[in-house]
Amino acid sequence: MGNKEAKRRIVLVPVPAQGHVTPMMQLGKALYSNGFSITVVEGHFNQASSSSQHFPGFQFVTIKESLPESEYEKLGPLEFGMKLNRTSEASFKDFIAQLLLQQGNDIACIIYDEFMYFSAAAAKEFNLPSVIFSTTSATNYASRRVLSELNADKFLVDMEDPEMQDQVVESLYPLRYKDLAISGMGPLEQVLEVCRKVANKRSASAVIINTVSCLESSSLSCLDTSVKIGIPMYSIGPLHMTPSPPSSLLEEDRSCIEWLNKQKPRSVIYISLGSIYEMVTKELLEMAWGLCDSNQPFLWVIRHGSESLPEEVSTMVSEREGYIVKWAPQIKVLGHPAVGGFWSHSGWNSILESIAEGVPMICRPFHGEQKLNAMYIESVWRIGFQVEGSKVDRGEVERAVKRLMVDEEGAGMQERALVLKEKLKASVKSGGTSYNAFDELVKYLKTK
Ligand code: UDX
Repeated sequence: MGNKEAKRRIVLVPVPAQGHVTPMMQLGKALYSNGFSITVVEGHFNQASSSSQHFPGFQFVTIKESLPESEYEKLGPLEFGMKLNRTSEASFKDFIAQLLLQQGNDIACIIYDEFMYFSAAAAKEFNLPSVIFSTTSATNYASRRVLSELNADKFLVDMEDPEMQDQVVESLYPLRYKDLAISGMGPLEQVLEVCRKVANKRSASAVIINTVSCLESSSLSCLDTSVKIGIPMYSIGPLHMTPSPPSSLLEEDRSCIEWLNKQKPRSVIYISLGSIYEMVTKELLEMAWGLCDSNQPFLWVIRHGSESLPEEVSTMVSEREGYIVKWAPQIKVLGHPAVGGFWSHSGWNSILESIAEGVPMICRPFHGEQKLNAMYIESVWRIGFQVEGSKVDRGEVERAVKRLMVDEEGAGMQERALVLKEKLKASVKSGGTSYNAFDELVKYLKTK
């Protein structure tokens, strides 16, 4: 730790959203433990520095020209992301210039979330190495290459044909065109524009992916051979399995662990739809009825809290075997022996966390690459199934919960999830694929 090389600085640029901040902080912690100094550059909201007490030694810096939260609410994720990239470029360059002066040119690398592509301009200007960090799956990363080559008008017409929807995307078997991450984010042309920007490597010299080769070997080899990414790729996930402090942007309600302690082994279905999606009242009602009718105990994350629930739902939940929290310590919940299933929106972090604990899933994907993730759960790993359609009524909720928690079919899914759990454990242990890839990454960064 005492030599010059061991103290070189890495600048991290996360996207201001829970699902991106968490893996970036986990990566930062792992690199810090391997002798690098860490600077985290952030905007004005969803700041990683809200958990700075858990990351002593890290430097946190706010970009002045970054956009406020009100812009996110006004523009939505896609337009906000594009605007953020336009407005942050110049002030990020200024910040890097200052840091270089302070650090005596000792910046080893800028590691930026693939969606924070503005970072590449500063790296180029100051001739610094840059590395892209993809916080979602390798399949998603590879599929963006396909999307970035599509013509929006033609694709929309093609997709009116059900045969085309079910057609497998060449080199990404078994991914079908209908699984691609195009829905729920905005107009297709805009989605494709973002894909083109994100898929462009610019001057990056490597890519880090929060995945593990035993889950996505064919997509990883597609990136290597068909997409010909042409720069080193490091699959170092699941990052949450490496020792790291919490980086939750919301306060975790730990009372649910007490409640779980009173439940029977593998009896509880845990429901969480991540940090972005919120159910409307009608959906909440149908979900509550279905959960109660399933007769399984349930732990339900509702971010706006139980106080905003219709009275009918609150009464029903408190009379039945239900418990509601605003935000749960999710990794602890999934690792609790009482939890037997996870009703999820299929965000990538949630999936990795669930597999790492051998918990099978009911997938209710909403936007972005969640459909693609759900397809992998249902058809590739076979550790869960999708609940599809724009509306899900109480009967479907009840049937889905029973299918996973009670039926023999659910027992098979759980068995396979437990097998994958062991594979993930082996990957992050000394000699495992992710362990070795991280080792290689550290060596690589030390040469920069
Ligand atoms: C976003 C996108 O929606 C998703 O498609 C993409 O894969 C990642 O970025 P998000 O919706 O937040 O992510 O979902 P997810 O990736 O599952 O991340 C949520 C994180 O919040 C997880 O790490 C989970 O452990 C944590 N969480 C969630 C809690 O700590 N407590 C909760 O109550 C709920």
